[in-house]
Amino acid sequence: MQTRGAWLVLAGCFASCVSSQTITVDGDVIAAGESNISPAAEVVNGVQDSRVTLPEEELQLTDDILGNLTGLQLSNVSVFYFGDDESEDHFTKRELDNRWNGKCKTFPGDLLFPGKPVWKVLDLLTGGAVISTVPLGAACYEGEHYDAKKCEFLFSNWANSSTHVVDPTSVMSPLFQGATCQPQDAEAGSVCEISGFPLYSIKATNVAHIQLAVNMARNLNLRLVVHNTGHDFLGKSTGAGALSIWTHNMKSIQVLKEHKTKSYNGPAFKVGAGVQVRELYETAERNGFTAVGGECRDVGVAGGYAAGGGHSPLSPLVGLASDQILSVDIVTPQGRFITVDEENHEDLFWAIRGGGAATWGVVTSMTFKVATSSLNISETQFWSAVEAYWSRFPDFSDAKSYEYHFIFPAGPDAYLWSMNSWVVPGTNLADFKKLVEPLLQEWESLGVNIKPEYFEHDSFYPMWRSHFPSENVGTAEVRTGSRLIPRGNFEDKELWNKTFKTLRGIAEDGATLIMYNINAAAPEGTPASAVNPAWRDALMFVITGSSWAPDATEEEISETNRRVTYEIMQSLKDITPGGGGYGNEGDVIDPDFGQSFFGSNYKRLYNLKKKIDPLGVFYAPTAVDSEDWYIEGQDQYLTRQTGKLCHRWVFLCPSYPKNIYQRQEISYLLLRITT
Ligand SMILES: Cc1cc2nc3c(=O)[nH]c(=O)nc-3n(C[C@H](O)[C@H](O)[C@H](O)COP(=O)(O)OP(=O)(O)OC[C@H]3O[C@@H](n4cnc5c(N)ncnc54)[C@H](O)[C@@H]3O)c2cc1C
Ligand SMILES: *[C@@H]1O[C@H](CO)[C@@H](O)[C@H](O)[C@H]1NC(C)=O
Ligand SMILES: *[C@@H]1O[C@H](CO)[C@@H](O)[C@H](O)[C@H]1NC(C)=O
Ligand SMILES: *[C@@H]1O[C@H](CO)[C@@H](O)[C@H](O)[C@H]1NC(C)=O
Ligand SMILES: *[C@@H]1O[C@H](CO)[C@@H](O)[C@H](O)[C@H]1NC(C)=O
Ligand SMILES: *[C@@H]1O[C@H](CO)[C@@H](O)[C@H](O)[C@H]1NC(C)=O
Repeated sequence: MQTRGAWLVLAGCFASCVSSQTITVDGDVIAAGESNISPAAEVVNGVQDSRVTLPEEELQLTDDILGNLTGLQLSNVSVFYFGDDESEDHFTKRELDNRWNGKCKTFPGDLLFPGKPVWKVLDLLTGGAVISTVPLGAACYEGEHYDAKKCEFLFSNWANSSTHVVDPTSVMSPLFQGATCQPQDAEAGSVCEISGFPLYSIKATNVAHIQLAVNMARNLNLRLVVHNTGHDFLGKSTGAGALSIWTHNMKSIQVLKEHKTKSYNGPAFKVGAGVQVRELYETAERNGFTAVGGECRDVGVAGGYAAGGGHSPLSPLVGLASDQILSVDIVTPQGRFITVDEENHEDLFWAIRGGGAATWGVVTSMTFKVATSSLNISETQFWSAVEAYWSRFPDFSDAKSYEYHFIFPAGPDAYLWSMNSWVVPGTNLADFKKLVEPLLQEWESLGVNIKPEYFEHDSFYPMWRSHFPSENVGTAEVRTGSRLIPRGNFEDKELWNKTFKTLRGIAEDGATLIMYNINAAAPEGTPASAVNPAWRDALMFVITGSSWAPDATEEEISETNRRVTYEIMQSLKDITPGGGGYGNEGDVIDPDFGQSFFGSNYKRLYNLKKKIDPLGVFYAPTAVDSEDWYIEGQDQYLTRQTGKLCHRWVFLCPSYPKNIYQRQEISYLLLRITT
C-alpha cells in the first residue's frame, strides 16, 4: 500500500483507536499490523540530488507529517518532534525538563517514564512495529513463554550465531545483559528476567520508524540502543530500560555498476543496515564482483562492523571495510535523515569511518566500493611451530597474506594451535608455495612435519565459502580484549624477543590467543577517516580472552575481568606503547579506551560527538564520549548493561536553550561528579 496522500484519522476517538489497534487511512478502517504502511511517513525520493535511495529509505518522517498529526490534536505527538525544531509551541517546558531530569536516562519505574498509551501511539505511528521484549531464552523457562520444542532447538543451537540474529534483542555475548534466560541455566523455579535487555524495540523497515524512535528517545530522555545482529563483543547492542532500534530487516542491496564520487569512479554496492556478510558476498558473486566483509558469515556489514573499521581477508590488499565506504545514509540525533559523503557533512563522513557505530546516529545504508572484479586466491591449512612462523610475519605481510589462527589452552602444558585459514588474495598457487616453502623447510628441520592442504580459487566467494566455517557464540563466561602489534615489534630483534615472550606467556597463563597476520594499510587515495591509526602499520592483530566456570562467584568473575584488563591486556600494551586495539573486538573496561580504539583521533572525535549529539541520545560502552556515562550499581570490573544509564556530569544551568548551538556555549557549566 502506498502512503503518499494517505491520511490517518484519529480525531475524537484517540483512546478507543489505540485500544482496538485500528487506524483510519483515507476513510478505511484497518487493523494496524506489521504489513500496514506506517501512518507517520511519506514517500520521499532522493532527499539530496542524485541520491540513490533503497526501498527502505523512501518512507520518511517529515515536518509536514508532524504538522498534520499536530493538526489532528493527537495527544503525545510532540514526543516525536525533531530535535532541531525551532518553533516554540513544539516544546512544552515539561518535555524539556524531561530531557535533563537528573543525570540519568529515564528508567522504567521512574515517574517520567512513558506509560503504555505513549508506547501505543508509537506502535500506531509505526504501523505496528513496536515489539515488547521477550528474551529469546524465555522459551526454556516456566511461564507464559514456555515452549518445549523451541527450547530444545535453542538448547542445541545456542552457539550458532544464526539462532540469535533473527531475534530482535538477543545478543551473542550474554555476559552484558546479565546472562539472564540462558537455556542451559533453566531449571525448575529459575526465572528469566528482562535484566539488561531493552524494554521495547522497533522492528525498523523504513527510515520513518527510525526517526520516530530517535525523536521519542531524545524528547523523553530514554536510553536508546541500536541492534543489528547482536554480534557485539562489548555489550553495545543491548541496555536495560531502553528503546531499541532493530535494523536487521533492512535487507536491500543495490549494485551500482557505475558510481562516481570525488575520489572514486567505479562499481559500488549500496547496502541496507541489516545486510549480513554472507548476503553481501552472495550478491557480489552473482554480479561478478568481490566485496569487503568480515570472515564470519552473520556479522552485519553496515552496522557495527564497517563503522568500527572492519577487517577482512582482503584487507592486506584493499584496506579495512571503512576504507571502502563512499557514502552513508544516517538518521541524526536530531532525527533528520541525511546523506554523508566526501562533499556533504565531511566531519561526520570522517568520524563514521572508524569512529564507531551507535555514536553519530542510526545508519540506514552505506555505499561501498567494489573491491575487485576477480581475484586468484590460494589457501592452505596446517598446524605447528609457532615462533618460526610468527617471526616471518613481515615477509608474509609484504606478500599481502592474511592468516587466521588460534592457540587454545588444552590442559596442563598442552596447547592446541590451529591455522584456520591462510589466504593470499591476488596470487596463484605456485607463488603461494614459493612463499611458504622456507617456513615448511624450517619446520621440517625442527622435526615438525606438516602436510599442508593447498587450494586455489579464481575468486573470493568460493574460497570464503569452503574455508571459513561459522563460529561459536552465546557464552556468558568469557571476556576478551585485543591489540594490534606493529611491524616494529617484528623487525627489532630485542623487541621481537619481548613480544614473543609476552604472547607465549599469555598462552602459558591459560588464556586464549586468536591471531591474524593482517596489515590493513589504507589504499592510495582513501579519504582521511577516523579509523584507528594503529591498523595501518600492524602486522599482527591479536584477540585474547579469559573465561570462568559457569558457577563462578561474582568475586571470581570480577577477578577474571580485572586480570584480563590489568594483567593480560596490560602485558600487550607494555610491548606496544602508544598503540591500540580494535574497538569492535576490544576490552570493554580498557581504562584508556579512547587511545586504544581511536588513537590520535580521539580528541577530535570527542569534540565532534559533543557537537553532533549534545544531548547524548546515542550511547554504547566504549563508544566515543562513553567515559561521560556509567551504569548505576555496577562493580568496577563487571560491565553489565543491566542498570540505569547515567551521566557523570550534573547540569547546573537551570534554564537551558533548546537550540543545540546555544547548548555548545554553555557546556562548560557542566560539573563532573564522582561515582
Ligand atoms: C563470531 C564473530 C565474528 C566476527 N568476525 C569479524 C571479522 O571478521 N572482522 C571484523 O572486523 N569484526 C568481526 N567481528 C566483530 C564485529 O565487527 C562486531 O561485533 C560488530 O560490532 C558487529 O556489528 P553488527 O552490526 O553485526 O552487530 P550488533 O551487535 O548488532 O551492533 C554492533 C554495534 O553497532 C551498532 N549498530 C548496529 N547497527 C547500527 C546502525 N545501523 N547504525 C548505528 N549503529 C549501529 C550497535 O548499536 C552496536 O553498538 C566478529 C564478531 C563475532 C561475534
Ligand atoms: C497533510 O494534510 C493535508 C491536508 O489534509 C494534505 O493535503 C497533505 O498531503 C498532508 N501531508 C502529508 C505529508 O501527508
Ligand atoms: C500523552 O498524552 C496524555 C493524554 O493527553 C498525557 O496525559 C501524557 O502526559 C502524555 N505523555 C507524554 C509523554 O507526553
Ligand atoms: C547455524 O544455523 C543456520 C540456520 O539455521 C544453519 O544453516 C547452519 O548450518 C548452522 N550452523 C551450524 C554450524 O550448525
Ligand atoms: C589467475 O588465474 C588465471 C587462470 O586461472 C591466470 O590466467 C591469471 O594469470 C592468474 N592471475 C594471477 C595474478 O596470477
Ligand atoms: C633473543 O632471544 C634469543 C634466545 O631466545 C637470544 O639468543 C638472542 O640473543 C636474543 N636477541 C636479542 C636481540 O635480545
